[in-house]
Amino acid sequence: MNNENNFKVPHIIGIKNMTEDYIQSILDEAFLIKRNPSKYTEELKGKILSLAFWEASTRTRLSFESAILRLGGRTLGFSSQVGTSIEKGESLSDTITMLAGYSDCIVLRHPRRGSAKLAARVADKYGVPVISGGSGSQEHPTQALLDIFTIQEFHHRLSGLNVGIVGDLRYSRTISSLLFALSKFGRNTIYYLSHPSLKLQEELEYDLNSVDLELTKAESLSDMIGDLDVLYVTRLQKERFPDPMLYNKVKGSYQIQKDILKAAKSDLIILHPLPRVDEIPYSVDSLPQAKYFEQAKNGVYTRMALLKKVMKFNLNK
Ligand code: NCD
Repeated sequence: MNNENNFKVPHIIGIKNMTEDYIQSILDEAFLIKRNPSKYTEELKGKILSLAFWEASTRTRLSFESAILRLGGRTLGFSSQVGTSIEKGESLSDTITMLAGYSDCIVLRHPRRGSAKLAARVADKYGVPVISGGSGSQEHPTQALLDIFTIQEFHHRLSGLNVGIVGDLRYSRTISSLLFALSKFGRNTIYYLSHPSLKLQEELEYDLNSVDLELTKAESLSDMIGDLDVLYVTRLQKERFPDPMLYNKVKGSYQIQKDILKAAKSDLIILHPLPRVDEIPYSVDSLPQAKYFEQAKNGVYTRMALLKKVMKFNLNK
């Protein structure tokens, strides 16, 4: 089940409180959809999905759009505050109230931690589910779903894996959600590597203490590469750095050069939520281990599966 706080409808706020069964049911459906995506064009016919994006997005917004279109529904929304009444000072909760009246489900991306939960509390009154497309540096649940879908697709399992995570552990919401997701399936070991100023947030580390996940600090990329089944790379989240000087100091600290991958297992997969800046050079794209574009494409199938599940739970419409 995925029902936090006795909500009336199943909002997708984070992975942290989702059960393994709920996650697996979405992945199973997504695998079926990927095999034959054109079979589902009547599923959400007549339904409207709001895409409310306070922050920049390419993949999350457009793959949600592709997903609802492939399910027979339509979208409305905005991709920045520009041109909306948010510029006039309208609050998040009033904006969500409006969208709950105009649509059957709301995907929200917002820079504030806690924003998805607040939006869910508002939209719940109208029986409209909210799906987080990223809330500050806190969580990005649908990204984690497509990440683990891709891991399962290539490794045929979600437990007993060695996963290396490299980049911005402090501000990357995709890493928080991925770690919670992997913790549900058991016996996974995480090797993490970042600049000392970009370590995991204390709150997240605390939460991860009580889950089934082994966390091991790696000293270098070459130290861990030979053990890994998955290498998950993120960009530094420049926009979340409190001090631009710090960004300039740490940028470019980790790059996945082709040479280092020679020591990798033959079935290693390299994932990245994208966009990349300079963490993965273009020369890596042609290696068989580079799966980040397939991963991004999987966003459509996992989001189709999720929309199908969440929007069919909609009580009032
Ligand atoms: C990520 C995000 O917005 O957190 N992007 C995405 O949804 N694929 C990662 C990022 O921006 O670095």
